[in-house]
Amino acid sequence: VTHYRKDYSTPNHRIDRTLLEFDLDAESTLVKSRLDFSPWHLQQAEGLPIVLDGEDLQLECVTLDGKLLDESLYQQTDTQLIIPNAPKQGTLEIAVRIRPSGNTRLEGLYMSNGNFFTQCEAQGFRRITYFPDRPDVLSRFTVTLRADQAAYPVTLSNGNLIDSQKLPDGKHRTVWEDPFPKPAYLFALVAGQFVCQEESITKSNGQPALLQVWVEPGNLDKTDFAMQSLKHAIEWDRQRFGLDLDLDRFMIVATADFNMGAMENKGLNIFNTKFVFANPQLATDIDFENVESVVGHEYFHNWTGNRVTCRDWFQLSLKEGLTVFRDQEFSADMLAKGLDAQQAASARAVKRIDDVKVLRAAQFPEDAGPMAHPIRPDSYQEINNFYTVTVYEKGAEVIRMQHTLLGEEQFQRGMRIYFDRHDGQAATCEDFVAAMETALQEIKPDQDLKQFRHWYSQAGTPNVSASWHYKADESELVLTLKQSCAPTPGQAEKPAFHIPVRIGLVSNTGLDLPLQLKSPKNALSGDILNFTETEQVFVFQGVAKGTVPSLFRGFSAPVQVRAEYSLEELVFLARHDNDPFNRWDAGQQVFTQAIFEIYQSSGDTSGKLVQAANLMMADLLEDPSLSDGFRALAIALPSENTLFELFDGLVDPVALHFARQTLREYLAACNQGPLLKLYQARATHTERYEYNAVAAGKRALKNASLAYLTVDEPGQSLARSQFLSADNMTDRLGALNLLAHNAEDAQSELDQFFNMFQKEALALDKWFMTQATTPASHPAGNPLERIQALLKHPAFNLKNPNRARSVLAAFAMQNPSVFHQHTGVGYQLWASLVIELNAINPQVAGRMARALDRWSKLTPSLQTQARAALEKINAHDGLSPDVHEIISKALGAL
Ligand code: ARG
Ligand code: ZN
Repeated sequence: VTHYRKDYSTPNHRIDRTLLEFDLDAESTLVKSRLDFSPWHLQQAEGLPIVLDGEDLQLECVTLDGKLLDESLYQQTDTQLIIPNAPKQGTLEIAVRIRPSGNTRLEGLYMSNGNFFTQCEAQGFRRITYFPDRPDVLSRFTVTLRADQAAYPVTLSNGNLIDSQKLPDGKHRTVWEDPFPKPAYLFALVAGQFVCQEESITKSNGQPALLQVWVEPGNLDKTDFAMQSLKHAIEWDRQRFGLDLDLDRFMIVATADFNMGAMENKGLNIFNTKFVFANPQLATDIDFENVESVVGHEYFHNWTGNRVTCRDWFQLSLKEGLTVFRDQEFSADMLAKGLDAQQAASARAVKRIDDVKVLRAAQFPEDAGPMAHPIRPDSYQEINNFYTVTVYEKGAEVIRMQHTLLGEEQFQRGMRIYFDRHDGQAATCEDFVAAMETALQEIKPDQDLKQFRHWYSQAGTPNVSASWHYKADESELVLTLKQSCAPTPGQAEKPAFHIPVRIGLVSNTGLDLPLQLKSPKNALSGDILNFTETEQVFVFQGVAKGTVPSLFRGFSAPVQVRAEYSLEELVFLARHDNDPFNRWDAGQQVFTQAIFEIYQSSGDTSGKLVQAANLMMADLLEDPSLSDGFRALAIALPSENTLFELFDGLVDPVALHFARQTLREYLAACNQGPLLKLYQARATHTERYEYNAVAAGKRALKNASLAYLTVDEPGQSLARSQFLSADNMTDRLGALNLLAHNAEDAQSELDQFFNMFQKEALALDKWFMTQATTPASHPAGNPLERIQALLKHPAFNLKNPNRARSVLAAFAMQNPSVFHQHTGVGYQLWASLVIELNAINPQVAGRMARALDRWSKLTPSLQTQARAALEKINAHDGLSPDVHEIISKALGAL
């Protein structure tokens, strides 16, 4: 079934209050509910049906206003419970039984390691009890939890603890009351054996609030950083957005079994351990960064998501795009904290580059493939499939463009208008833009966001081509921009987007010239060009000869740019652009062109692009003005997924891997001295591990240099000693990865790592992932056999999403040269695993099913193999809606 945005209609009833009582039992949990309902519209007629959602529930009884209903008085289907002819107002009481121990989908109430957890977004609550499971129904919840005291000593739910008692027969009871009305998807409960780290803070109103991070016993040595991050997030939201914590108690609980990253349940966030646990021995710098950003993300949802929620799931980006934007800004502000202006700019640029890399490697392909959808989709079959990089990351870019157009001050004004209008409501993306538009017009009454709204309704990555010429007599630079957007499913033609282009004019001495736009009038505001037509000509005055335009600085819009730079101009920008993002980007374009030159000449490194890349590399290695973190990014080659997308034409990913590998070996051979010097300078004097932007940048550059050096034996022995002497996971795993992917034999290091960390699930995930990403260029050959062996390893477990992803996603999505091997065995292995996972956990299977989204871009013989694998999945009986939607859309793509 396909659901359409245009079909939205309000429900018949509100649920003003919800009382829930749980008798927690792994095999049979009794859930009793009492729902006080009233008419949605005051003038509403009597006798409209009450429609409740419910799946896999064993119904015990239904009572209306105290009277038990016999079966003739309600209708029960596989997915709904309907009370026809209901009064306008009244009380429903329902009892159901569920079986948490059998719940491998990890939606609704499930068990992890003997403890109870819930995951209700998007539609998990209907697996707990019958309820209008839609985000526009907001209710006040009171929750009673009864459980065995010894087995489940800790029982938590949303809001405030209002009662706690011992009961006879070894049980105990807690009662939780959430003062804020909320939709069912924000409900949560947790019960089991936990310990916590806690701290009390003072809110701006002077009231105290209790912060807790709950984990299973034995993990309290991993919670300090999450607690720090939570406190930083609370402080940051106060400072930058003027938003404070609205509860007396805010809890985070970690579970090892979780479908996604984390969940913003009101006052009771539930997290994948991967985004809570962090200490230097177990977590890499990237893990630390992720913990901080996900803790921030979920906390920020308390306002953008919970206080103002979504009217329907088509509006998901209303909360997700906005909250990702907020967490990105939070991370950037944290990285820059305490640094001088130049270091701070560099630290921010590193964060921006990381975010844009994700967008280009994952969102651009989504926008170009069979699953392309606008950030506010018009339809879906399975909502779980729409928690996408488009809704999240492109959604954040669309918020960022509004921030760019309004400026920080008016953007914050727009946020206040948004909360004034919609606090306590279920809102739409349109409501958000309307608030921003009001704020914009307070300072610029002649402007609006009418055309800007296309970013919400149109899918696809716009292509912008840029060309320019110089008029020496007038000292004018004439810049022509053209935009187009390829058709996407259901959208053939697209009107022009309103694209903010942050621009600089870099003179041949490397200085930014002042911007003087002669025409069109009023198209420039600060350094932002408003590009609004299919084709537009911009004339700049007072421009010196030899000036090079720097376009889309800081990645000011999520577009694919084709600018007519000569090779010399790109190299010039890679050296001199005053915008660090564009400086990095220019260098990446040089590397990209060099790799394509090798790819198209079957391995020749004597071409002029490779030579230019090599000179540029030498420059980057010697430039002491660049921060370590920036330099690490600047010398790294574009990822295989990014290259795949950028190549004009059909691609053989195996050949592309070898082309990239050839450039890596060539650059390593030509720059060995400087690489070694960079490495040694950072490897020899070691301070104790600390996570901060400067220290992480230093480790990143050290490991980026080592990545080149490990192309041969001397570098590999450096990696072996780094592996042994490392006092932190960043350096240890960095070395292990390089050895596993490049050295003839890394078995002893792999074994040591396994023995060291066999009790630490997240570290073991890394061990699996390292091996599952071993590329086709590995000297010992046949990495697929290794992957098959990993699947049989006693520690492998398809039921645990992190472990499943550490092999399956790693292999099918991050190891193109093995996945796309010409025999098709990679695809066949993937297909059988997707089918196996489909029966266990449809949501995670739906993710994994996306590995062949871009099969129409493969070379013809690979397309044949890919089609066979897709058809094999499609023909499987009992495909979940999740997997079915993905595979049928992929098959429809050709
Ligand atoms: N709202 C959560 C977050 O972004 C993600 C929940 C995803 N759940 C799902 N079933 N897809 O923080
Ligand atoms: Zn979110």
